[in-house]
Amino acid sequence: MKIGVVTETLANECRVAVSPFSVKQLVQQGFDVQVHEGAGVRSYFSDEEYRDVGATIVASAEVVWRTSDILLKVAPPSIVEASMLRDGAVLVGFLGPGKNSELLEILRAKGVSSIAMECIPRISRAQKMDALSSMTNIAGYRAIVEAANVYPGFFAGQITAAGKVPPAKVLVIGAGVAGLAAIGAARGLGAIVRAFDTRSAVKEQVQSMGAEFLELAFDEDGDGAGGYAKEMSPAFIEAEMALFASQAKECDIIVTTAIIPNKPAPKLITRPMVESMKPGSVIVDMAAEQGGNCELTEPGKRVERNGVQILGFTDLVSRMASRASSMYANNLVNLLLCLNPSKNGTVSFDLEDDIVRGSLVTHQSQLRWPLPKIQTSVQPSVSKSPSDTKPGAENLQRATAKGASDPASVRSQWLRPIGTCVGLGIGIFFMWAIAAYAPEKLVTHLTVFVLSCFLGWQVVWSVTPALHTPLMSVTNAISGIILVGAMLQMKEPTMGISSLLAAAAVLIATINIAGGFFVTSRMLKMFHKGE
Ligand code: NAI
Repeated sequence: MKIGVVTETLANECRVAVSPFSVKQLVQQGFDVQVHEGAGVRSYFSDEEYRDVGATIVASAEVVWRTSDILLKVAPPSIVEASMLRDGAVLVGFLGPGKNSELLEILRAKGVSSIAMECIPRISRAQKMDALSSMTNIAGYRAIVEAANVYPGFFAGQITAAGKVPPAKVLVIGAGVAGLAAIGAARGLGAIVRAFDTRSAVKEQVQSMGAEFLELAFDEDGDGAGGYAKEMSPAFIEAEMALFASQAKECDIIVTTAIIPNKPAPKLITRPMVESMKPGSVIVDMAAEQGGNCELTEPGKRVERNGVQILGFTDLVSRMASRASSMYANNLVNLLLCLNPSKNGTVSFDLEDDIVRGSLVTHQSQLRWPLPKIQTSVQPSVSKSPSDTKPGAENLQRATAKGASDPASVRSQWLRPIGTCVGLGIGIFFMWAIAAYAPEKLVTHLTVFVLSCFLGWQVVWSVTPALHTPLMSVTNAISGIILVGAMLQMKEPTMGISSLLAAAAVLIATINIAGGFFVTSRMLKMFHKGE
């Protein structure tokens, strides 16, 4: 299939959907790639670089639109652009499905299969395709860089012959992806950082990054579904605003990122708070596009009020276009690999796959928006049984209000414990029968075997999916024990069924250990600073 990439036409959008590195990988996956002439210029990628790794450079964007089987984009296409897509083509990009109904209708009518990158569910397996996180991470970092650019002071404290300068005090409101990135950047520059979030679950993350987590004496938690926040009561908002009012007098820089999905940004920083800040202070309102967390923010602009700079930039990611394009392009490569696992240059859509199901907004002339909710790794666990966590229809967490009143679901809630009791009874009966008639040695081995199966089951299924990778280290240790046991068993002088089983155990445990080390090392590499 032919992948097409065009120059982004949205004002201030400097990113491009492919980097030379990603083109190389797409070609390796069996795709032909055509790039509109100059598409990468604003991300500092030349046509030459694309050509060198196997892309064809096409002079006309219209030709790319009309002849591509798969169109990769950053921002949503305009209506005119979308109308040029071939019938049955594939479109991937940030499509803003919630606010672009006209676009979705065109894509549906043309039978286009379109994937909205912002909808990729935040599950462990999809982390490498999670463009929303990778882009917001950049934005959080950039927010601090922009603040540093206009802040007339040092971030880190200084002791010089000319006097002592205290470190800047930074307050970050909302410790989601952007907030945590901002905390990291501000700490890196040496500032004193404080953060507040309605979700107490982020407290440890904030503290682990060296910031102070501000708390309210209020018995209400903002944890909603999938690691996102829920709307707080007016009393809570009032209490947190009182906290911000006192912090505003002290802090030099405030970065606001507070947002609840599909809601206007809560107004948390009022005019009097801005007026109480020291002249020269800075507010970076990252939620500007959703109306802003600060009353005085003007989206897309830098304004000055009472000597306080208020930055409402909505293009923070684009201000780091080269890095952002590279990361976004990597997210796309990983997504295409998921749609093209056999690397033969074609894509298919497996609607049983949570990643596809959670992001495919139009497919086969059907509108799939609003998309089904997918249980994410950070969501508080509602169901514990293995069938609830395996990929498939059972994994859907549809509106709980419906589920709670659904008679079928109520029935299944009753049937499940009964089934467990019956299963347990049968198991006990079998164990009793074996204990009564089998030799003593077999009974001992069987007991150990049953107990280890139970432990293994509990260790794997009772742990939230987010912790499965660290869990690998523990299962590695268990595999080590299996390996030793199996090797001892293989020492038996006669070559019988037990030796064969032991050899099989050695093989499987070795694969498990090697795989565990491989994944753990990849995971650790993610935390290594580039040397
Ligand atoms: P997120 O959903 O991961 O984090 C938002 C955080 O705000 C959550 O932790 C939530 O608990 C918290 N929050 C919600 N209501 C709150 C309240 N009343 N008080 C305190 N905390 C509250 O969102 P993410 O991905 O970190 O994005 C944050 C913002 O940054 C969004 O508005 C997003 O659109 C914006 N953004 C802006 C860019 C720009 O160029 N200006 C670029 C990328 C993202």
